[in-house]
Amino acid sequence: MKLPEKGMSRKDITDRLEAFKADDLDWQSGKVFGYVFDPGAEAMEVGKQAYMKFLTENALDFTSFPSLYKFEKEVVEMGLAHLNGPKEAVGNFTSGGTESIILAVKAAREFAAANKAAIKKPEMILPITAHAAFHKAAKYLGVTIVPTGVDENFRADVTAVKNAITENTILIVGSAPSYAHGVIDPIAAMAGVAQDNNILFHTDACVGGFMLPFFKKLGEAVPDFDFSVPGVTSISMDLHKYAYTPKGASLVLYRNKEIRKHQIFACSHWTGYTIINNAIMSSRSGGPMAAAYAVLNFIGKEGYLDIARKKIAATRKLVEGIRDHKDLILMAEPDFCMFSFTSKTISVFHLIDEMNAIGWYIQPALSYAHSRHNIHLSINFSNVKWVEAFLKDLTQSIEKIRHIPYGATGDALKKEFENKDPNALSDAEIAQLLELAEIGGKGFPKQMAPINEMLDAVPAKLRERLLVEYTNMIF
Ligand SMILES: Cc1ncc(COP(=O)(O)O)c(C=O)c1O
Repeated sequence: MKLPEKGMSRKDITDRLEAFKADDLDWQSGKVFGYVFDPGAEAMEVGKQAYMKFLTENALDFTSFPSLYKFEKEVVEMGLAHLNGPKEAVGNFTSGGTESIILAVKAAREFAAANKAAIKKPEMILPITAHAAFHKAAKYLGVTIVPTGVDENFRADVTAVKNAITENTILIVGSAPSYAHGVIDPIAAMAGVAQDNNILFHTDACVGGFMLPFFKKLGEAVPDFDFSVPGVTSISMDLHKYAYTPKGASLVLYRNKEIRKHQIFACSHWTGYTIINNAIMSSRSGGPMAAAYAVLNFIGKEGYLDIARKKIAATRKLVEGIRDHKDLILMAEPDFCMFSFTSKTISVFHLIDEMNAIGWYIQPALSYAHSRHNIHLSINFSNVKWVEAFLKDLTQSIEKIRHIPYGATGDALKKEFENKDPNALSDAEIAQLLELAEIGGKGFPKQMAPINEMLDAVPAKLRERLLVEYTNMIF
């Protein structure tokens, strides 16, 4: 593909864009449990209009675009009020959960550098269920992760957290909820440990923060996770998930400016314009901020309560259906509208492919520690109408794939690779593994089960190497 000599017509471009969509997930069907958060046609349109109105405005310089400053200020104020922020609390608008998390870790690292001179090798205590974005933050920022265990219901072990504290600890993290199992960590106890030891504590409420207060209002048992908990010093809360605003919208919130100050980046050591950034990126479209502002105001508290009510009912039915199925095992009772389930009698990876073939999208997760490989569901507003049909198709699909043995490729690979250093594998060995998983080259595979079984069988470090090599190969 090369830049065309002459520009194409608008019609040809539109046709081509439409054609590109042909193999994408059909999220508008409402049968996709993940990735897309659909608030319904009208709210979607409100978001689109606001996004397009501010598409070109640049948040690089808020003095040139005070409109964007206002959006950010007001959306942050809504977020703080929603999460019981004290009057000193502050925050910023970011492009997503990962950016909010990287910024919170940066602020913690630099807060420690400014206030605890003895810290030379910063460490972050991270339950194994915390989102991968913290691993990315640790890599980018040179922070060492101290992993801690979780109980049989996948909630962080507070004693393990306490025992993991060293003189280098800059931050302790808890999730509300963790993505994989939809359970909320014991935030009050964890933040209490952090406070007793004069350490910052971050609640990752990226996925749950916005909806959980509505769940609580509707009578669900939601443990405290926000600024009402003493010791919680920062929170990440996405808007582009369960607040249903268009993508590129999250908040990173802090108990006070003393901590937040360390998030901000300024640079005068170059020959160009003055750089002052709240976020990681410099040039950024005003679209996501304007759209978030518009959708939050359009749906309002009553609208979100209605969405929450419907999702709670749908989640309950799905959980019951899965708990009652003889082949399926619920991984943990969820605290939120997301959960996972596994099986010891059928291959969940083949079940996913079978469901995919008949129009559903459900997400695979690999084994890690005592979390068995599983199927994850994030329940969305648009999924609500499909609950019965989903359970029926799930049961039928189980019968269709029952004859397929689990792990034929996986077991042999496990033996061969469990003691090998992934970094020592040659390019030829890597190519052979990719071939075995039937992802040797051309196009995307239709069947993901062989890949998932293979990845599930090998150690996490080798999975990571394979994923990097594969991505490096296809782009
Ligand atoms: C708990 C949690 N934290 C962080 C993230 C990362 O968010 P993003 O994909 O917006 O970067 C996610 C994404 O699902 C999440 O569930």
